[in-house]
Amino acid sequence: MRILVTGKNGQLGQSINKLINIETKIENNPSSNEFIFVGREELDLSNNSSIINYFDNHDKFDIVINSAAYTAVDQAEEEQNLTNQVNHLAVKQLAEIAKEQKAKLIHISTDYVFDGESDKPYIETDKTNPINVYGKTKLAGEKALQAIMSTNAIIIRTSWLYSEYGNNFVSTMLMLGKERDELNVVNDQIGSPTYATDLAGAILEIIKSKEFREENQATQFYHYSNEGEISWYEFTKEIFKIAKIDCKVIPITTRQYPTPAQRPKNTLMNKAKIAKTFSVGISDWKESLNTCVSILRKNK
Ligand SMILES: NC(=O)c1ccc[n+]([C@@H]2O[C@H](COP(=O)([O-])OP(=O)(O)OC[C@H]3O[C@@H](n4cnc5c(N)ncnc54)[C@H](OP(=O)(O)O)[C@@H]3O)[C@@H](O)[C@H]2O)c1
Repeated sequence: MRILVTGKNGQLGQSINKLINIETKIENNPSSNEFIFVGREELDLSNNSSIINYFDNHDKFDIVINSAAYTAVDQAEEEQNLTNQVNHLAVKQLAEIAKEQKAKLIHISTDYVFDGESDKPYIETDKTNPINVYGKTKLAGEKALQAIMSTNAIIIRTSWLYSEYGNNFVSTMLMLGKERDELNVVNDQIGSPTYATDLAGAILEIIKSKEFREENQATQFYHYSNEGEISWYEFTKEIFKIAKIDCKVIPITTRQYPTPAQRPKNTLMNKAKIAKTFSVGISDWKESLNTCVSILRKNK
């Protein structure tokens, strides 16, 4: 199988690559799958003709995993056209190409398609109502994909993604915690963090499953995050505890920390569907955070 992964320099792209390298070493290769990782140098999602050119000049793929996205939530408020191009129009184009090539498409979306006003964890069929540009463009991408591929695609919504790669909440807090004596962190936005390696593992499990490989199945949504229910304040406290950083964390409200993009208040997601369909394990958030922080400290 030829499997294309977009966003090779992103958190999820690098995490998928890491797991494939580990699997290849353990099994002493012979995976029948050929993974091709591309970044914006090879396949620029902000440019229609770059997308066409890339697929015109490469053999067909069996699976496309779209882990690339415009993810700068605050900047998106300023760069609406670019955000829409990458998160919506490029997804539409990828879906058209995947359909034409008879490839399966695994697309990653976000908890920010919800408005965060629910008092229980969101299930896949709950009403969407994004409250910022990033969420609106990701929702438009989901809808465009669904309209083109009523079969052979899956959309995985995830939340609060972090990893040992690039800048993310965990790496930023580790840096700030060492520089400062105290830190104000928002305590009234609730969600579940997701270690990108766990999500990458779930995607690789899905690809191997017979449920996924069956042809012409209806396109499905799945929710995936780690297990747990916390605020950014609680997340920060745990990061410092694990890393033994002595920095006082002060809980504040969203109102006290205004940002260009509005954030949903409570985006907990119910993961029962993905766990049941693909027998995917859902790790506890603290366990995964421990793993990531120890890798980050070793890499220092
Ligand atoms: N991060 C989160 O907290 C979060 C939460 C919920 C859902 N998600 C979703 O999860 C998925 C993976 O997120 P992530 O955290 O791994 O994102 P990330 O680390 O920001 O990586 C995104 C990748 O997309 C690439 N990209 C951006 N614009 C592009 C363009 N015009 N052409 C080609 N590539 C482009 C970036 O390339 P460069 O490296 O060249 O910039 C980057 O490598 C995304 O769909 C995201 O929407 C993320």
